[in-house]
Amino acid sequence: MVSEKNIVWHEGKVTKLHRQNMNRHKSAILWFTGLSGSGKSTLSVELEKSLYEMGIKTFRLDGDNIRHGLNSDLGFAEKDRNENIRRIGEVSKLMVEAGLMTLTAFISPYKKDREFVRSLMEGGEFIEIYVHASVEECENRDPKGLYKKARAGKINGFTGIDSPYEMPVEPELIINTEVMTINESVLKIISYLKEHHYM
Ligand code: PPS
Repeated sequence: MVSEKNIVWHEGKVTKLHRQNMNRHKSAILWFTGLSGSGKSTLSVELEKSLYEMGIKTFRLDGDNIRHGLNSDLGFAEKDRNENIRRIGEVSKLMVEAGLMTLTAFISPYKKDREFVRSLMEGGEFIEIYVHASVEECENRDPKGLYKKARAGKINGFTGIDSPYEMPVEPELIINTEVMTINESVLKIISYLKEHHYM
């Protein structure tokens, strides 16, 4: 079908299903969301290592890293965060088409942005993982010293301090990093993937 912009979708002969069958596992987005310092990046790195060791084909996208390249033109105003997540959603969708278990670690503070990414995907392809730790706990950890800077007024619009974080309402998984170890958390996610026949 020709669209208003005269752009026509071109179908290939090798599909996502072919790639998944070749890999012998499904592909989906494991979408980690939570405050800065909640443990998103640490968890996604450890989970990816475990999945790799199990022979699962993965790729990981991480907030700080993507903001060095693809999204280096974006800041932290609401509309920039919207665009950040929109682009990551589209890139993740391509990764899922490529047959990969795709791990993303972005604060993604707005519910409508996360729901937008979910809407791009087919049923079961968006696994929202809420990485929970309170603002107080994240501020205590403060691994990058950013909460200290935000409290000192050196960063404006810092999530959890003077910029909102909208908690997921019905995430597929909740990982409370105040009470669970990294190892326990990784095992919980792997159990979920096995129980739901992703691998
Ligand atoms: S977002 O909200 O999803 O667009 O953010 P994200 O792309 O995940 O980037 C978050 C990382 O950027 C650093 N940083 C900030 N975070 C929150 N608010 C403000 N104002 C801010 N400024 C810089 C911070 O290192 C975040 O990394 P994580 O890994 O979450 O700590």
